[in-house]
Amino acid sequence: MQFRDYEPATDREAVRRIWRETGWLREGKEEVMDLYLEGSRAIVAELNGEAECLVNTVPGTMRYLDADLPMSCVAGVTTSRIARKQGLATRLTAQAVADDVAAGAVVSVLGMFEQGYYDRLGFGAGSYEYWVRFDPARLKVDLDPRVPRRLTVDDRSVVHANRLDRLRRHGACTLTPPQGTHAEMLSSYKQSFGLGYFDGPDGRLTHHVWFGVKENVEFGPYTVRWMAWQTPQQFRELLAIIKSLADQVAMISVREPPGIQWQDLIDRPFESQTLSRGGEYEQRIECNAYWQMRICDLPKCLDQTHLPGDEVRFNLRLTDPIERFLPENAPWRGVAGEYVVSLGPSSGARRGADSSLATLEASVNAFTRMWLGVRPASGLNITDDLCGPPQLLEQLDCVLRLPDPKPDWAF
Ligand SMILES: CC(C)(COP(=O)(O)OP(=O)(O)OC[C@H]1O[C@@H](n2cnc3c(N)ncnc32)[C@H](O)[C@@H]1OP(=O)(O)O)[C@@H](O)C(=O)NCCC(=O)NCCS
Repeated sequence: MQFRDYEPATDREAVRRIWRETGWLREGKEEVMDLYLEGSRAIVAELNGEAECLVNTVPGTMRYLDADLPMSCVAGVTTSRIARKQGLATRLTAQAVADDVAAGAVVSVLGMFEQGYYDRLGFGAGSYEYWVRFDPARLKVDLDPRVPRRLTVDDRSVVHANRLDRLRRHGACTLTPPQGTHAEMLSSYKQSFGLGYFDGPDGRLTHHVWFGVKENVEFGPYTVRWMAWQTPQQFRELLAIIKSLADQVAMISVREPPGIQWQDLIDRPFESQTLSRGGEYEQRIECNAYWQMRICDLPKCLDQTHLPGDEVRFNLRLTDPIERFLPENAPWRGVAGEYVVSLGPSSGARRGADSSLATLEASVNAFTRMWLGVRPASGLNITDDLCGPPQLLEQLDCVLRLPDPKPDWAF
């Protein structure tokens, strides 16, 4: 079994076959897959001389409060029909994460197909994401939008730049290579389009919304694939644009943007849900926790962690399940070990132990969730692999009072 870099010249047909077999590649969309891979670091596992498992990762950043941490996103994990259940995808993903750590990533993020699989590699579930399906006629916005500019795939560079520039809150992820945005614009929607405003001093795109329509262009549903804005006024103008489609479009779905409670924006939200229940245009809010993250370099993550409140110092005994899937002699085999950790205005982690301090025992999965603010230490102590004396858990609950982390980027 050989793990190696993806070589477009010789592996292209084999990796297309993998994606066709997993249902990820439709006829005629081959160049979209090429684009995704062009903007990725891709590695393959070879079986009988052909690539039969493909893992691709994309570099980016993750905002932790006001700091930007170098991040790697595991964007695709796929095994062909003849190579399943041999541990290829697990080991290749572990290898991809290790390679990205060597390239500077301090956290890794991914979208999971099911809970449990990536737990074996140290990833912990993120917080809930909400998807709202609403009738745009019910949007509460009292603003007449100016005439926006149409955005098409030809505007991909400015659209990508505007996405990178958007207002980013705690947990916001950004995938840096432009090919990702380009590929998303070309992806499997029947119709995709954007509307936006070029209000920057040099005529730059300042705010926009990008839609995808799966089937019914006439009546919807339309999906808001993403929004990029920096000021409340810009956000309101995008809402007004969405509302302006209401005479024709009966339903729009959107992932709730960070910091916003979309239900506030709907006129009589419960009535609209009751009246539409069971119908084709049923309005509702759904949620699930589908993304996962893991710390890959604890000292570097904590160097960038600045929390209000009193400092908490403790011993950390950290386990990391990824090591089982990496070679014994690999330069990086996770972050397991004993650390002395401080969390506060200036935080840090150094290897070792201090007998005067209380000890927290945790998997990197659970510790990442606590550090991000997905759930407090006292809750993870009940549902996840994290335990310590009650007084320490209480102090951790206090110092890690963080906003709900939201990647605000689909992956
Ligand atoms: C998911 C996928 C990549 C797995 O590929 P694979 O090479 O067969 O995976 P591996 O052999 O490394 O891992 C399989 C193991 O994971 C385990 N596993 C699967 N789902 C799990 C879960 N939710 N929790 C814990 N373990 C899980 C299996 O039981 C199996 O263990 P076993 O061999 O001891 O029985 C493959 O099924 C695929 O390509 N699916 C379609 C594309 C997709 O959904 N990719 C994931 C995107 S996030």
